[in-house]
Amino acid sequence: MITPTCSFTLSGIDAIRIEIEVNATGSGEGITVSIVGLPDAAVRESKERIRSALYASGYRHPEGFTLINLAPADIRKEGAAFDLPIALELIAATNAFPPDLLRPAMILGELALDGTIRPVKGVLSAALLARKSDHITTLIVPAANRSEAAVAASSMKVYAVGTLREAVAALSGEILPLAPDSGNLFLEPDWQNVPDFCEVKGQRAAKRALEIAAAGGHNVIFIGPPGSGKSMLAQRMPGILPPMTEEETLETSRIHSALGILPPGEPLLRKRPFRSPHHTVSDAGLLGGGVNPQPGEISLAHNGVLFLDELPEFKRNVLEVLRQPLENGLVTISRAAGSFTFPCRFLLIAAMNPCPCGHLGDRQHRCSCRSLQVQQYRARISGPLLDRIDLHVGIEALTDDELLSSAPAETSAQVRARCIAARQIQQARFGKNSLIRCNSMMGPTQLTRYCALDPRLQSMIRHAINEFGLSARAYDRILRVARTIADLAGSENISREHLFEAIGYRNLDRRG
Ligand SMILES: Nc1ncnc2c1ncn2[C@@H]1O[C@H](COP(=O)(O)OP(=O)(O)OP(=O)(O)O)[C@@H](O)[C@H]1O
Ligand SMILES: [Mg+2]
Repeated sequence: MITPTCSFTLSGIDAIRIEIEVNATGSGEGITVSIVGLPDAAVRESKERIRSALYASGYRHPEGFTLINLAPADIRKEGAAFDLPIALELIAATNAFPPDLLRPAMILGELALDGTIRPVKGVLSAALLARKSDHITTLIVPAANRSEAAVAASSMKVYAVGTLREAVAALSGEILPLAPDSGNLFLEPDWQNVPDFCEVKGQRAAKRALEIAAAGGHNVIFIGPPGSGKSMLAQRMPGILPPMTEEETLETSRIHSALGILPPGEPLLRKRPFRSPHHTVSDAGLLGGGVNPQPGEISLAHNGVLFLDELPEFKRNVLEVLRQPLENGLVTISRAAGSFTFPCRFLLIAAMNPCPCGHLGDRQHRCSCRSLQVQQYRARISGPLLDRIDLHVGIEALTDDELLSSAPAETSAQVRARCIAARQIQQARFGKNSLIRCNSMMGPTQLTRYCALDPRLQSMIRHAINEFGLSARAYDRILRVARTIADLAGSENISREHLFEAIGYRNLDRRG
Protein backbone atom coordinates (compact mmCIF):
# COMPACT_ATOMS: atom_id res chain seq x y z
CA MET A 1 0.00 0.00 0.00
CA ILE A 2 1.19 3.54 -0.77
CA THR A 3 1.02 6.05 2.09
CA PRO A 4 1.40 9.63 0.90
CA THR A 5 2.94 12.47 2.86
CA CYS A 6 3.12 16.13 1.94
CA SER A 7 5.55 19.00 1.53
CA PHE A 8 5.31 22.34 -0.25
CA THR A 9 6.65 24.39 -3.10
CA LEU A 10 6.66 28.18 -3.41
CA SER A 11 4.66 29.93 -6.09
CA GLY A 12 5.88 33.50 -5.73
CA ILE A 13 5.55 33.90 -1.95
CA ASP A 14 2.65 31.48 -1.52
CA ALA A 15 3.16 27.92 -0.33
CA ILE A 16 1.40 25.25 -2.37
CA ARG A 17 0.84 21.84 -0.83
CA ILE A 18 2.55 19.02 -2.71
CA GLU A 19 1.56 15.41 -2.17
CA ILE A 20 4.43 12.87 -2.23
CA GLU A 21 3.83 9.22 -3.03
CA VAL A 22 6.53 6.57 -3.14
CA ASN A 23 5.96 3.17 -4.72
CA ALA A 24 8.85 0.84 -3.90
CA THR A 25 7.96 -1.99 -6.27
CA GLY A 26 10.91 -4.20 -5.33
CA SER A 27 11.09 -5.44 -8.92
CA GLY A 28 14.26 -5.40 -11.04
CA GLU A 29 17.97 -5.61 -10.33
CA GLY A 30 19.94 -3.10 -8.19
CA ILE A 31 18.45 0.27 -7.20
CA THR A 32 16.71 2.53 -9.70
CA VAL A 33 14.69 5.62 -8.81
CA SER A 34 12.47 7.73 -11.02
CA ILE A 35 10.89 11.04 -9.93
CA VAL A 36 7.83 12.22 -11.88
CA GLY A 37 5.58 15.29 -11.49
CA LEU A 38 7.42 18.23 -13.10
CA PRO A 39 10.51 18.28 -10.83
CA ASP A 40 13.18 20.93 -11.48
CA ALA A 41 16.89 20.05 -11.58
CA ALA A 42 17.33 20.42 -7.78
CA VAL A 43 14.46 17.98 -7.16
CA ARG A 44 15.73 15.48 -9.77
CA GLU A 45 19.15 15.51 -8.16
CA SER A 46 17.64 14.78 -4.75
CA LYS A 47 17.80 11.02 -5.30
CA GLU A 48 21.61 11.12 -5.18
CA ARG A 49 21.67 13.21 -1.99
CA ILE A 50 19.03 11.02 -0.38
CA ARG A 51 20.81 7.77 -1.13
CA SER A 52 24.03 9.06 0.44
CA ALA A 53 22.16 10.47 3.47
CA LEU A 54 20.32 7.18 4.02
CA TYR A 55 23.51 5.12 4.06
CA ALA A 56 25.37 7.67 6.22
CA SER A 57 22.53 7.55 8.77
CA GLY A 58 22.47 3.76 8.87
CA TYR A 59 19.28 3.16 6.83
CA ARG A 60 18.70 0.96 3.80
CA HIS A 61 17.50 2.11 0.39
CA PRO A 62 14.63 -0.01 -1.03
CA GLU A 63 15.93 -2.48 -3.60
CA GLY A 64 14.69 -2.61 -7.21
CA PHE A 65 12.68 0.06 -9.01
CA THR A 66 11.18 2.93 -6.94
CA LEU A 67 8.76 5.44 -8.41
CA ILE A 68 8.35 8.83 -6.67
CA ASN A 69 5.35 10.92 -7.68
CA LEU A 70 4.93 14.61 -6.80
CA ALA A 71 1.34 15.80 -7.19
CA PRO A 72 -0.40 17.83 -8.54
CA ALA A 73 1.50 16.95 -11.70
CA ASP A 74 0.99 20.28 -13.48
CA ILE A 75 2.80 22.48 -10.92
CA ARG A 76 6.57 22.93 -11.25
CA LYS A 77 8.34 21.68 -8.13
CA GLU A 78 11.33 23.76 -7.14
CA GLY A 79 14.11 23.50 -4.61
CA ALA A 80 15.52 20.92 -2.27
CA ALA A 81 12.78 20.84 0.41
CA PHE A 82 11.52 17.47 -0.91
CA ASP A 83 14.71 15.61 0.13
CA LEU A 84 13.53 14.95 3.67
CA PRO A 85 9.95 13.79 2.97
CA ILE A 86 11.17 11.51 0.15
CA ALA A 87 13.90 10.07 2.39
CA LEU A 88 11.37 9.38 5.14
CA GLU A 89 9.04 7.69 2.63
CA LEU A 90 11.93 5.47 1.50
CA ILE A 91 12.81 4.57 5.10
CA ALA A 92 9.16 3.73 5.79
CA ALA A 93 9.18 1.51 2.67
CA THR A 94 11.90 -0.60 4.33
CA ASN A 95 9.62 -1.01 7.37
CA ALA A 96 11.89 0.99 9.71
CA PHE A 97 8.74 2.66 11.13
CA PRO A 98 4.99 2.45 10.42
CA PRO A 99 4.22 4.33 7.17
CA ASP A 100 0.90 5.62 8.59
CA LEU A 101 2.87 8.14 10.68
CA LEU A 102 3.65 10.00 7.44
CA ARG A 103 0.05 10.60 6.39
CA PRO A 104 -0.86 13.56 8.69
CA ALA A 105 2.60 15.19 8.39
CA MET A 106 4.00 18.06 6.36
CA ILE A 107 7.74 17.60 5.99
CA LEU A 108 10.42 19.87 4.52
CA GLY A 109 14.19 19.98 4.49
CA GLU A 110 17.27 19.60 2.31
CA LEU A 111 19.62 16.72 3.08
CA ALA A 112 23.38 16.92 3.19
CA LEU A 113 25.26 13.79 2.13
CA ASP A 114 25.99 12.90 5.78
CA GLY A 115 22.32 12.99 6.79
CA THR A 116 22.26 16.43 8.39
CA ILE A 117 19.41 18.72 7.40
CA ARG A 118 19.91 22.09 5.76
CA PRO A 119 17.47 25.04 5.96
CA VAL A 120 15.05 25.83 3.13
CA LYS A 121 13.34 29.02 1.97
CA GLY A 122 9.68 29.89 2.52
CA VAL A 123 9.13 27.94 5.77
CA LEU A 124 6.90 30.69 7.18
CA SER A 125 4.46 30.38 4.28
CA ALA A 126 4.57 26.58 4.62
CA ALA A 127 3.87 26.75 8.37
CA LEU A 128 0.92 29.08 7.79
CA LEU A 129 -0.40 26.68 5.14
CA ALA A 130 -0.02 23.72 7.53
CA ARG A 131 -1.83 25.69 10.25
CA LYS A 132 -4.79 26.22 7.91
CA SER A 133 -5.03 22.55 6.81
CA ASP A 134 -7.19 20.49 9.17
CA HIS A 135 -5.68 17.11 8.40
CA ILE A 136 -2.04 18.13 8.97
CA THR A 137 -1.21 17.50 12.63
CA THR A 138 2.58 17.25 12.44
CA LEU A 139 5.10 19.62 10.89
CA ILE A 140 8.77 18.66 10.53
CA VAL A 141 11.22 21.40 9.53
CA PRO A 142 15.01 21.92 9.54
CA ALA A 143 16.39 23.06 12.92
CA ALA A 144 17.61 26.32 11.36
CA ASN A 145 14.02 27.19 10.38
CA ARG A 146 12.70 26.57 13.89
CA SER A 147 11.59 30.13 14.54
CA GLU A 148 9.51 30.46 11.35
CA ALA A 149 7.77 27.13 11.96
CA ALA A 150 6.91 28.18 15.52
CA VAL A 151 3.88 30.11 14.17
CA ALA A 152 2.16 26.72 13.88
CA ALA A 153 3.30 25.38 17.29
CA SER A 154 0.08 26.29 19.08
CA SER A 155 -2.11 24.28 16.71
CA MET A 156 -0.01 21.18 15.86
CA LYS A 157 3.10 19.21 16.78
CA VAL A 158 6.08 21.05 15.26
CA TYR A 159 9.51 19.40 15.25
CA ALA A 160 12.70 21.22 14.31
CA VAL A 161 15.23 18.52 13.44
CA GLY A 162 18.95 18.58 12.68
CA THR A 163 19.46 15.12 11.17
CA LEU A 164 17.61 12.39 9.30
CA ARG A 165 17.74 10.19 12.41
CA GLU A 166 16.14 12.94 14.46
CA ALA A 167 13.38 13.27 11.86
CA VAL A 168 12.59 9.54 12.22
CA ALA A 169 12.60 9.96 16.00
CA ALA A 170 10.20 12.91 15.67
CA LEU A 171 7.74 10.89 13.57
CA SER A 172 7.94 8.03 16.03
CA GLY A 173 7.19 10.40 18.91
CA GLU A 174 10.58 9.82 20.58
CA ILE A 175 11.46 13.52 20.87
CA LEU A 176 9.42 16.46 22.10
CA PRO A 177 7.77 18.94 19.75
CA LEU A 178 8.32 22.71 20.15
CA ALA A 179 6.49 24.17 23.15
CA PRO A 180 3.13 25.69 22.11
CA ASP A 181 4.09 29.06 23.63
CA SER A 182 7.05 29.32 21.26
CA GLY A 183 4.32 30.65 18.98
CA ASN A 184 4.38 33.98 20.84
CA LEU A 185 6.04 35.71 17.98
CA PHE A 186 4.98 39.29 17.76
CA LEU A 187 7.75 41.05 19.62
CA GLU A 188 8.13 44.79 20.15
CA PRO A 189 10.91 46.18 17.92
CA ASP A 190 14.29 46.57 19.55
CA TRP A 191 14.33 50.38 19.37
CA GLN A 192 17.82 50.53 20.94
CA ASN A 193 19.39 49.49 17.67
CA VAL A 194 17.46 51.90 15.45
CA PRO A 195 19.22 55.23 14.75
CA ASP A 196 17.50 58.06 16.65
CA PHE A 197 15.94 61.27 15.39
CA CYS A 198 17.58 63.33 18.12
CA GLU A 199 20.97 62.85 16.42
CA VAL A 200 19.88 65.09 13.54
CA LYS A 201 20.57 68.76 14.24
CA GLY A 202 18.33 71.50 12.90
CA GLN A 203 16.27 70.53 9.82
CA ARG A 204 12.98 71.22 11.55
CA ALA A 205 10.98 71.36 8.31
CA ALA A 206 12.36 68.04 7.10
CA LYS A 207 11.63 66.40 10.44
CA ARG A 208 8.09 67.72 10.37
CA ALA A 209 7.63 66.30 6.85
CA LEU A 210 8.88 62.88 7.99
CA GLU A 211 6.48 62.97 10.92
CA ILE A 212 3.57 63.63 8.55
CA ALA A 213 4.84 60.90 6.23
CA ALA A 214 5.03 58.38 9.08
CA ALA A 215 1.65 59.36 10.48
CA GLY A 216 -0.25 58.98 7.20
CA GLY A 217 1.99 56.75 5.05
CA HIS A 218 2.95 59.45 2.53
CA ASN A 219 5.87 59.52 0.10
CA VAL A 220 8.63 62.13 0.52
CA ILE A 221 11.37 63.63 -1.63
CA PHE A 222 14.25 65.61 -0.10
CA ILE A 223 16.15 68.09 -2.24
CA GLY A 224 19.23 69.66 -0.78
CA PRO A 225 23.01 70.17 -0.91
CA PRO A 226 25.53 67.43 -0.07
CA GLY A 227 26.07 66.75 3.60
CA SER A 228 22.88 68.44 4.78
CA GLY A 229 21.52 65.27 6.38
CA LYS A 230 19.14 63.82 3.75
CA SER A 231 20.39 60.25 4.05
CA MET A 232 20.68 60.64 7.80
CA LEU A 233 17.04 61.70 8.09
CA ALA A 234 15.76 58.90 5.86
CA GLN A 235 17.59 56.24 7.87
CA ARG A 236 15.74 57.42 10.98
CA MET A 237 12.31 56.87 9.46
CA PRO A 238 11.82 53.27 10.75
CA GLY A 239 12.29 54.65 14.28
CA ILE A 240 9.27 56.95 14.10
CA LEU A 241 6.92 54.61 12.24
CA PRO A 242 4.35 52.82 14.40
CA PRO A 243 5.16 49.13 14.95
CA MET A 244 3.60 46.77 12.41
CA THR A 245 0.27 45.14 13.21
CA GLU A 246 0.28 41.34 13.47
CA GLU A 247 -1.18 41.08 9.99
CA GLU A 248 1.48 43.40 8.55
CA THR A 249 4.22 41.48 10.37
CA LEU A 250 3.11 38.19 8.81
CA GLU A 251 2.75 39.72 5.32
CA THR A 252 6.23 41.23 5.35
CA SER A 253 7.94 38.31 7.08
CA ARG A 254 6.50 35.89 4.51
CA ILE A 255 8.23 37.83 1.73
CA HIS A 256 11.55 37.81 3.59
CA SER A 257 11.11 34.11 4.39
CA ALA A 258 10.54 33.28 0.71
CA LEU A 259 14.00 34.69 -0.03
CA GLY A 260 15.49 33.06 3.08
CA ILE A 261 16.59 36.40 4.56
CA LEU A 262 14.71 36.58 7.86
CA PRO A 263 17.17 37.60 10.60
CA PRO A 264 18.57 34.39 12.15
CA GLY A 265 16.82 33.40 15.38
CA GLU A 266 14.01 35.92 14.96
CA PRO A 267 10.67 34.26 14.36
CA LEU A 268 9.21 37.22 12.50
CA LEU A 269 10.39 40.68 11.54
CA ARG A 270 10.06 43.01 14.50
CA LYS A 271 10.54 46.38 12.91
CA ARG A 272 9.38 47.75 9.60
CA PRO A 273 11.85 47.00 6.80
CA PHE A 274 14.12 49.73 5.47
CA ARG A 275 15.44 48.96 2.00
CA SER A 276 17.94 51.18 0.30
CA PRO A 277 18.89 49.72 -3.11
CA HIS A 278 21.91 51.22 -4.86
CA HIS A 279 21.18 53.36 -7.91
CA THR A 280 22.68 50.73 -10.21
CA VAL A 281 19.81 48.32 -9.35
CA SER A 282 18.13 46.64 -12.34
CA ASP A 283 14.39 46.77 -12.86
CA ALA A 284 14.21 43.04 -12.02
CA GLY A 285 16.13 43.71 -8.80
CA LEU A 286 13.78 46.52 -7.87
CA LEU A 287 10.44 45.05 -8.95
CA GLY A 288 11.17 41.35 -8.76
CA GLY A 289 11.93 38.88 -11.50
CA GLY A 290 13.86 35.80 -12.54
CA VAL A 291 12.81 32.70 -14.42
CA ASN A 292 10.68 31.66 -11.45
CA PRO A 293 9.90 35.19 -10.28
CA GLN A 294 11.05 36.25 -6.83
CA PRO A 295 10.13 39.44 -4.98
CA GLY A 296 12.32 42.51 -5.56
CA GLU A 297 13.34 45.42 -3.34
CA ILE A 298 9.91 47.09 -3.45
CA SER A 299 8.29 43.94 -2.04
CA LEU A 300 11.02 43.50 0.55
CA ALA A 301 10.09 47.05 1.62
CA HIS A 302 6.38 46.06 1.95
CA ASN A 303 4.91 47.82 5.02
CA GLY A 304 8.20 49.64 5.48
CA VAL A 305 10.42 52.19 3.77
CA LEU A 306 12.00 52.17 0.31
CA PHE A 307 14.81 54.75 0.27
CA LEU A 308 16.08 55.82 -3.15
CA ASP A 309 19.15 57.92 -2.44
CA GLU A 310 20.56 60.04 -5.28
CA LEU A 311 17.31 59.62 -7.22
CA PRO A 312 18.46 61.16 -10.56
CA GLU A 313 21.28 58.58 -10.75
CA PHE A 314 18.77 55.72 -11.10
CA LYS A 315 18.20 54.55 -14.67
CA ARG A 316 15.14 56.23 -16.14
CA ASN A 317 13.44 52.94 -17.09
CA VAL A 318 13.93 51.66 -13.53
CA LEU A 319 12.18 54.72 -12.07
CA GLU A 320 9.36 54.59 -14.58
CA VAL A 321 8.43 51.01 -13.68
CA LEU A 322 7.83 52.23 -10.13
CA ARG A 323 4.80 54.24 -11.18
CA GLN A 324 2.20 51.47 -11.20
CA PRO A 325 3.30 49.72 -7.96
CA LEU A 326 3.39 53.11 -6.19
CA GLU A 327 -0.27 53.55 -7.04
CA ASN A 328 -1.56 50.00 -6.44
CA GLY A 329 0.67 48.56 -3.72
CA LEU A 330 0.98 45.44 -5.87
CA VAL A 331 3.37 44.37 -8.60
CA THR A 332 2.57 41.71 -11.18
CA ILE A 333 5.37 39.89 -12.97
CA SER A 334 4.66 37.68 -15.95
CA ARG A 335 7.12 35.04 -17.04
CA ALA A 336 6.97 31.72 -18.87
CA ALA A 337 6.49 30.06 -15.47
CA GLY A 338 3.31 32.07 -14.92
CA SER A 339 2.10 35.38 -13.62
CA PHE A 340 2.91 36.33 -10.02
CA THR A 341 1.60 39.19 -7.92
CA PHE A 342 3.61 40.42 -4.94
CA PRO A 343 2.48 43.00 -2.38
CA CYS A 344 4.57 46.19 -2.27
CA ARG A 345 2.83 48.81 -0.14
CA PHE A 346 5.89 50.82 0.83
CA LEU A 347 6.61 54.37 1.87
CA LEU A 348 8.98 55.98 -0.62
CA ILE A 349 11.66 58.37 0.54
CA ALA A 350 13.75 59.82 -2.26
CA ALA A 351 16.73 62.15 -1.95
CA MET A 352 18.49 64.28 -4.53
CA ASN A 353 20.71 67.30 -4.91
CA PRO A 354 19.21 70.38 -6.56
CA CYS A 355 21.77 70.29 -9.41
CA PRO A 356 24.79 68.20 -10.54
CA CYS A 357 27.29 70.11 -8.34
CA GLY A 358 24.77 70.05 -5.50
CA HIS A 359 24.94 73.71 -4.45
CA LEU A 360 22.15 75.46 -6.33
CA GLY A 361 20.45 77.78 -3.82
CA ASP A 362 23.12 77.06 -1.18
CA ARG A 363 23.97 80.09 0.97
CA GLN A 364 27.52 78.95 1.61
CA HIS A 365 28.68 77.68 -1.81
CA ARG A 366 28.43 78.95 -5.35
CA CYS A 367 26.74 76.68 -7.83
CA SER A 368 28.97 75.93 -10.82
CA CYS A 369 26.30 74.37 -13.06
CA ARG A 370 24.93 75.88 -16.27
CA SER A 371 21.16 76.18 -16.42
CA LEU A 372 20.91 73.57 -19.18
CA GLN A 373 22.80 71.10 -16.96
CA VAL A 374 20.37 71.77 -14.13
CA GLN A 375 17.41 71.25 -16.44
CA GLN A 376 18.82 68.00 -17.79
CA TYR A 377 19.56 66.76 -14.28
CA ARG A 378 16.04 67.43 -13.05
CA ALA A 379 14.46 66.05 -16.23
CA ARG A 380 15.77 62.63 -15.23
CA ILE A 381 12.84 62.47 -12.83
CA SER A 382 9.59 62.38 -14.73
CA GLY A 383 6.55 64.47 -13.88
CA PRO A 384 4.34 61.41 -13.33
CA LEU A 385 6.78 60.04 -10.74
CA LEU A 386 6.96 63.37 -8.90
CA ASP A 387 3.19 63.53 -9.03
CA ARG A 388 3.09 60.38 -6.88
CA ILE A 389 5.24 61.92 -4.16
CA ASP A 390 3.14 63.84 -1.64
CA LEU A 391 5.76 65.79 0.24
CA HIS A 392 8.45 67.76 -1.64
CA VAL A 393 10.90 69.06 0.93
CA GLY A 394 13.74 71.49 0.29
CA ILE A 395 16.62 71.10 2.73
CA GLU A 396 19.27 73.72 3.40
CA ALA A 397 22.80 73.19 4.65
CA LEU A 398 23.15 73.60 8.41
CA THR A 399 24.26 77.02 9.65
CA ASP A 400 27.34 77.06 11.89
CA ASP A 401 25.10 77.87 14.86
CA GLU A 402 22.96 74.80 14.20
CA LEU A 403 26.02 72.64 13.63
CA LEU A 404 27.69 73.65 16.89
CA SER A 405 24.50 73.70 18.92
CA SER A 406 24.17 71.14 21.70
CA ALA A 407 20.49 71.86 22.38
CA PRO A 408 18.66 68.55 22.87
CA ALA A 409 16.41 67.54 19.98
CA GLU A 410 13.25 65.44 20.15
CA THR A 411 13.81 61.69 20.28
CA SER A 412 12.32 59.16 17.89
CA ALA A 413 10.16 57.83 20.74
CA GLN A 414 8.50 61.23 21.22
CA VAL A 415 7.76 61.64 17.52
CA ARG A 416 6.63 58.02 17.22
CA ALA A 417 4.10 58.51 20.01
CA ARG A 418 2.39 61.27 18.00
CA CYS A 419 2.44 59.15 14.83
CA ILE A 420 0.89 56.20 16.69
CA ALA A 421 -1.88 58.47 18.03
CA ALA A 422 -2.58 59.75 14.51
CA ARG A 423 -2.69 56.19 13.15
CA GLN A 424 -5.15 55.20 15.87
CA ILE A 425 -7.48 57.96 14.70
CA GLN A 426 -7.15 56.61 11.16
CA GLN A 427 -7.83 53.04 12.24
CA ALA A 428 -10.98 54.14 14.07
CA ARG A 429 -12.05 56.04 10.95
CA PHE A 430 -11.57 53.25 8.42
CA GLY A 431 -12.38 50.29 10.70
CA LYS A 432 -10.07 47.58 11.99
CA ASN A 433 -10.59 45.15 9.10
CA SER A 434 -10.65 47.70 6.31
CA LEU A 435 -8.21 47.33 3.44
CA ILE A 436 -7.46 51.02 3.98
CA ARG A 437 -4.95 51.28 6.78
CA CYS A 438 -3.84 54.90 6.59
CA ASN A 439 -4.75 58.20 4.94
CA SER A 440 -2.45 57.72 1.95
CA MET A 441 -4.55 54.71 0.92
CA MET A 442 -7.86 56.62 0.77
CA GLY A 443 -9.78 56.23 -2.49
CA PRO A 444 -12.32 58.63 -4.03
CA THR A 445 -15.16 57.57 -1.68
CA GLN A 446 -13.11 58.18 1.46
CA LEU A 447 -11.72 61.45 0.09
CA THR A 448 -15.26 62.76 -0.36
CA ARG A 449 -16.36 61.50 3.03
CA TYR A 450 -13.39 62.47 5.21
CA CYS A 451 -11.75 65.39 3.41
CA ALA A 452 -14.69 67.71 2.84
CA LEU A 453 -13.61 71.34 2.40
CA ASP A 454 -15.79 74.33 3.20
CA PRO A 455 -16.26 76.96 0.41
CA ARG A 456 -13.46 79.13 1.80
CA LEU A 457 -10.96 76.25 1.63
CA GLN A 458 -12.28 75.23 -1.77
CA SER A 459 -11.44 78.62 -3.19
CA MET A 460 -8.00 78.42 -1.58
CA ILE A 461 -7.21 75.10 -3.27
CA ARG A 462 -8.71 76.30 -6.55
CA HIS A 463 -6.24 79.16 -6.44
CA ALA A 464 -3.36 76.72 -5.85
CA ILE A 465 -4.44 74.49 -8.75
CA ASN A 466 -4.40 77.44 -11.14
CA GLU A 467 -1.26 79.02 -9.73
CA PHE A 468 0.90 75.87 -9.61
CA GLY A 469 -0.74 73.90 -12.43
CA LEU A 470 -1.57 70.97 -10.14
CA SER A 471 -2.83 67.68 -11.60
CA ALA A 472 -5.96 65.90 -10.38
CA ARG A 473 -3.68 63.38 -8.70
CA ALA A 474 -1.73 66.13 -6.93
CA TYR A 475 -5.06 67.57 -5.75
CA ASP A 476 -6.10 64.23 -4.21
CA ARG A 477 -2.70 63.87 -2.61
CA ILE A 478 -2.92 67.33 -1.05
CA LEU A 479 -6.25 66.33 0.51
CA ARG A 480 -4.77 63.14 1.95
CA VAL A 481 -1.80 65.01 3.43
CA ALA A 482 -4.10 67.71 4.84
CA ARG A 483 -6.16 64.94 6.49
CA THR A 484 -3.00 63.54 8.13
CA ILE A 485 -1.92 66.99 9.35
CA ALA A 486 -5.38 67.43 10.88
CA ASP A 487 -5.13 63.98 12.52
CA LEU A 488 -1.73 64.85 14.01
CA ALA A 489 -3.36 67.96 15.46
CA GLY A 490 -6.27 65.84 16.75
CA SER A 491 -8.67 67.92 14.68
CA GLU A 492 -11.96 66.53 13.34
CA ASN A 493 -12.01 68.89 10.35
CA ILE A 494 -9.35 70.04 7.91
CA SER A 495 -8.65 73.69 8.69
CA ARG A 496 -7.04 76.48 6.70
CA GLU A 497 -3.62 75.91 8.34
CA HIS A 498 -3.71 72.19 7.61
CA LEU A 499 -4.54 72.74 3.94
CA PHE A 500 -2.01 75.55 3.64
CA GLU A 501 0.78 73.35 4.98
CA ALA A 502 -0.22 70.47 2.67
CA ILE A 503 -0.18 72.72 -0.42
CA GLY A 504 3.24 73.99 0.64
CA TYR A 505 4.63 70.48 0.17
CA ARG A 506 3.97 70.54 -3.60
CA ASN A 507 7.13 72.60 -4.25
CA LEU A 508 8.26 70.80 -7.36
CA ASP A 509 4.89 71.14 -9.09
CA ARG A 510 5.21 74.89 -9.26
CA ARG A 511 5.49 76.04 -12.82
CA GLY A 512 8.97 77.34 -13.60
N1 LIG B 1 21.50 67.83 10.31
C1 LIG B 1 22.58 67.15 10.70
N2 LIG B 1 22.79 66.89 12.02
C2 LIG B 1 23.87 66.20 12.41
N3 LIG B 1 24.81 65.72 11.57
C3 LIG B 1 24.68 65.95 10.27
C4 LIG B 1 23.55 66.68 9.76
N4 LIG B 1 23.66 66.74 8.43
C5 LIG B 1 24.78 66.08 8.11
N5 LIG B 1 25.41 65.60 9.20
C6 LIG B 1 26.67 64.85 9.22
O1 LIG B 1 27.10 64.73 7.87
C7 LIG B 1 27.12 63.39 7.44
C8 LIG B 1 26.56 63.31 6.04
O2 LIG B 1 25.17 63.53 6.05
P1 LIG B 1 24.21 62.84 4.99
O3 LIG B 1 24.88 61.65 4.42
O4 LIG B 1 22.91 62.64 5.62
O5 LIG B 1 24.14 63.98 3.91
P2 LIG B 1 23.33 63.99 2.56
O6 LIG B 1 22.43 65.18 2.61
O7 LIG B 1 22.68 62.70 2.34
O8 LIG B 1 24.45 64.26 1.49
P3 LIG B 1 24.60 63.77 -0.06
O9 LIG B 1 23.77 64.71 -0.88
O10 LIG B 1 26.04 63.93 -0.34
O11 LIG B 1 24.14 62.38 -0.11
C9 LIG B 1 26.30 62.65 8.46
O12 LIG B 1 26.75 61.33 8.61
C10 LIG B 1 26.52 63.45 9.72
O13 LIG B 1 27.71 63.05 10.34
MG1 LIG C 1 22.98 61.16 0.94
